[in-house]
Order: sequence, then C-alpha cells, then structure tokens
Amino acid sequence: MVDMLNKFFQNTRKPRGRPGKLMLICMNSGHAKLASWGFSHLHVNANSHILDIGCGGGANIAKMLKDSPGSIVDGIDYSEESVAFSQKINAFELGKRCNIRQGDVSCLPYPDRSLNLVTAFETIYFWPDLDAAFKEIKRVLQPGGTFFVCCELDNPDNTTWTDRIDGMTIYRGEDLKKRLLQIGFQSVDLHRHEKGWMCLEAVY
Ligand SMILES: C[S@@+](CC[C@H](N)C(=O)[O-])C[C@H]1O[C@@H](n2cnc3c(N)ncnc32)[C@H](O)[C@@H]1O
Repeated sequence: MVDMLNKFFQNTRKPRGRPGKLMLICMNSGHAKLASWGFSHLHVNANSHILDIGCGGGANIAKMLKDSPGSIVDGIDYSEESVAFSQKINAFELGKRCNIRQGDVSCLPYPDRSLNLVTAFETIYFWPDLDAAFKEIKRVLQPGGTFFVCCELDNPDNTTWTDRIDGMTIYRGEDLKKRLLQIGFQSVDLHRHEKGWMCLEAVY
C-alpha cells in the first residue's frame, strides 16, 4: 500500500498516464489556496506576455487569462499529460491568447528578452539544475520583467515529501533570493505565509 502511494506521488514530479491525470485533478484543487495567496502578492501589468513553467493542470494559466484579459498567457511543462490537461482546461483561449507546449525549463522556446512575467508554482523542487534554470528564465525576460516563484514547502529539514518523491529538493526562500541576486536579478521580494508557504517576486 505504501509502495503504491509512493508510486502515485511520483506523478507530482512528472504526471504520466491515468494516475498522472488523477494527480493533475488533485493538484488543481489542492493547490488552489496556495496559488490564491501567491497571486495576492503578484502584480500583473496589463497587456503582458506571461509564461507559466511547470503548468501542471493549467489552473493558474486559466486564472491569469481571466484576471488579465489583455495579456497572452502561455504554459510549458515537460509532461505530455500536463500539457494535454492544461490545453483542455484552457481550450477557450488556446491558439488565441494562450499557447501550451511540451518543453523543459532548461531550454525555453522563446527569444531573448521576450516575456514580461514568468511564473513557477510548485515546480522548482523538480528542476535538476536550479541556477541554470534561473539563467534561462533571465534570458527570456525583458529588462524590468518579473520571475514569480510560489512554493508550499521551504524547509529542507522536513523530509516528509523528499523521502517519497525521487529527485525532489526543497529550497529555503533566502537561498533562492541569494541565487537570484547573484545571477543578476535586480531585486527580490520574499513573502511567507504562517503555514510555511513562500513566494518571491524577482525583478530583472
Ligand atoms: C507539482 S506539479 C505543479 C503543477 C502546477 N504548477 C500547480 O501548481 O498545480 C509540478 C509540475 O512541474 C512540471 N515540471 C517538473 N520539472 C519540470 C521541468 N524541468 N520543465 C518543465 N516542467 C517541469 C511537472 O511535469 C509538473 O506538471
């Protein structure tokens, strides 16, 4: 039973097949409160070009499409299942204000300085080379653009999930802030929730 559950939890890192689809449904509802808190700290300028990396079930793309009607909101995820699910959820704007593709954070299919905002909800834990990913995000951001990170977990000493999910790493907000400033982001605002959640807004 424990083995079966642990196998199912691997779908948080990369949703696959029917269990992956079930996980995406769970994540869209289970992450809703975290995302709503995160969005309360994020200012989205009108007419922006936004990319949500590790878009999972696509709920955050749907929220940004709704809240920012003049903006283009794209998504990328390396899981085929996540891409299909996100496309379905956002079918009403697909090919108009929204483009959702399969791809990896290490190689974003966007030209230099082309995006205003990049978001990453509950996904940086699974990026194998965090600094390289941050540099790639910096490459695609326009000067003055924002990289927004939102995580439910920011205490590496709590191994409840890292013991169960292969290749998962939890980062402290302060560590992320230091890395982003070293890479060349101009300012980083870090916010914490009493439940241990954290989000940060890094301006390039
Ligand atoms: C825990 S889910 C979070 C999904 C969604 N952002 C949310 O908040 O509900 C993590 C997602 O990140 C994706 N992901 C993990 N590593 C990735 C990478 N290197 N490049 C692109 N997507 C990645 C996974 O496939 C998965 O859909």
